[in-house]
Amino acid sequence: MCGIVGYIGYREAYPIVIKGLKRLEYRGYDSAGIMLFDGNGLKVSKTKGKVSDLEEKSKDIATSKAVIGMGHTRWATHGVPNDVNSHPHLSNSGKLAIIHNGIIENYEPLKKELINRGYVFKSDTDTEVLVNLIEEVQKKENFKLGKAVQVALNQVVGAYAICVFDVDKPDEIVVARLGSPLAIGVGKDEFFIASDASPFIEYTSNAIYLEDEEMAIVRQHKPLKIRKIKDDSLVDPYIQELQMNLEQIEKGGYDHFMLKEIYEQPNVIKDTYRGRLHANEGIIQMAGVEDNLEKFINAERIIIVACGTSWHAGLVAEYVIEEFSRIPVEVEYASEFRYRNPIISSKDVVIAISQSGETADTLAAIKLAKEKGAFVFGVCNVVGSSISRETHAGAYTHAGPEIGVASTKAFTTQITVLTMIALRLAKVKGTLSNSDFHRYLQELELIPEKVLEALSTNDIAKEIATKYKDASNCLYLGRGYNFPVALEGALKLKEISYIHAEGYPAAEMKHGPIALIDEKMPVIVIAPKQGHYDKVVSNIQEIKSRSGKIIAVVTKGDTQVKELADHVIEIPETSDALSPLITTIPLQLLSYHIAVLRDCNVDQPRNLAKSVTVE
Ligand code: F6R
Repeated sequence: MCGIVGYIGYREAYPIVIKGLKRLEYRGYDSAGIMLFDGNGLKVSKTKGKVSDLEEKSKDIATSKAVIGMGHTRWATHGVPNDVNSHPHLSNSGKLAIIHNGIIENYEPLKKELINRGYVFKSDTDTEVLVNLIEEVQKKENFKLGKAVQVALNQVVGAYAICVFDVDKPDEIVVARLGSPLAIGVGKDEFFIASDASPFIEYTSNAIYLEDEEMAIVRQHKPLKIRKIKDDSLVDPYIQELQMNLEQIEKGGYDHFMLKEIYEQPNVIKDTYRGRLHANEGIIQMAGVEDNLEKFINAERIIIVACGTSWHAGLVAEYVIEEFSRIPVEVEYASEFRYRNPIISSKDVVIAISQSGETADTLAAIKLAKEKGAFVFGVCNVVGSSISRETHAGAYTHAGPEIGVASTKAFTTQITVLTMIALRLAKVKGTLSNSDFHRYLQELELIPEKVLEALSTNDIAKEIATKYKDASNCLYLGRGYNFPVALEGALKLKEISYIHAEGYPAAEMKHGPIALIDEKMPVIVIAPKQGHYDKVVSNIQEIKSRSGKIIAVVTKGDTQVKELADHVIEIPETSDALSPLITTIPLQLLSYHIAVLRDCNVDQPRNLAKSVTVE
């Protein structure tokens, strides 16, 4: 979590850093800070709050002509969000400045040692320890900045993406990464440093993504040198051309990124299957799967690891892979998997799902699975992300940048990829009849149209939101393929509107949650015609007889549920297996409108960050 931005070149650094921080605010937004160097000492401004608060506070330095600058937007790990704990942090001499995304786990013993040597700490952060450690190495060994950073980093345990600046070496910024992302934008006579490429896409389309345990000295007017932190060996910089464009990361007329991203789903689902699905020819293929087909079809088991919404997509995949391709699937929270000594062998295929490709728990689960000999396949959205590089092979979702902290289009594109994998494996294994296989391909191709139709439920979702915006609790129920959708619906509501919500398999209700139902409890039931419709109708009756308020997502033309429910949201029909791609749409809209009506910060809900790079 946290976003970092740095600039060194010939343009005014202030606007570049501030604009960059705004684009990275999804990574953390409890405090922010900026440092500029114009030859007359460091100019630092930091504050609790958002980048807009920083802009307000740093007005006195906004007109600076400084061409070197660094900024940070924070998601607190050590030390509460306040002005002092905000980055940049300065060393005791005031000469070194650092911005840091990550955690220094062994900061306490290092801090004690530094205090014994006379260092004084202003903040409660681990980062201030690191900058003073670098200063101590510099002093003790008489090292230049780059070498001192390297020696210090070899003493720390944890994760970091850092930029360090030294007033005595004002033509360079030293950067390094381990476990947190760091991209370097390479322009002509200028460099940009950031947690992802979004802060610099209008300036350059050339980027270098530092690998773990690499550092670079970024110098004005000089070629970039990348080194391994451990052994100092030189690494050839690999410059990638960025696929992102500016339009993708702006709101494009929508009030919130989340709404824009909900509405992008018809297009991005199409982008995700484009070139991979040819329904008329009966072809479905993805390079990463084709190259490793043997591994997949000989797998004794598929283990899916993920967190949050991506974990919900994994649950949908469990149903679809088992049904279509008859391979046993287990879905694990990455955070549990990594710490429970799981039984994994080389006969297992592990699928790691992650929008950001940076989630620390998922990354650690991948490393563990690899150590135990499993083949690990990634389903990621961010090209070049840590997870996409750590996995043996993978398939990208083509959702484009997802900026709203609550995941929407990443979820549906993940399901699209995972369904394609299930269908491809079914084809090779012959576990689906030819006619079913072709039917599913045709249906998948029609999903974008149906998602578009499902988006027309926006007005009714808004109307329902008006009625229930003040609820304190909500239940979400679904069965089969729509059980994970119930979980996802509940997660969306709680994270952006702060209403307590729980998702359950509808039949589990009578084993406990039914006790919660009274006339104040809105129950959102996902009841499409396909699947376990009759059973869900019985569950709806159980809620009705206890006076619960029923909001049902039903297939267009439904009459039975309409008679029982207080509100219905009609969606187009599709097969049971593909229904999560459609049923999830009105739930996203409902959460969105409730959050807006409650005046919540939809795109940046409290306490959350988009990319969870700490465990
Ligand atoms: C919820 C949400 C999170 C993420 C989770 C995993 O809306 O976005 O639950 O799904 O933090 O993130 P990724 O997919 O980036 O690994």
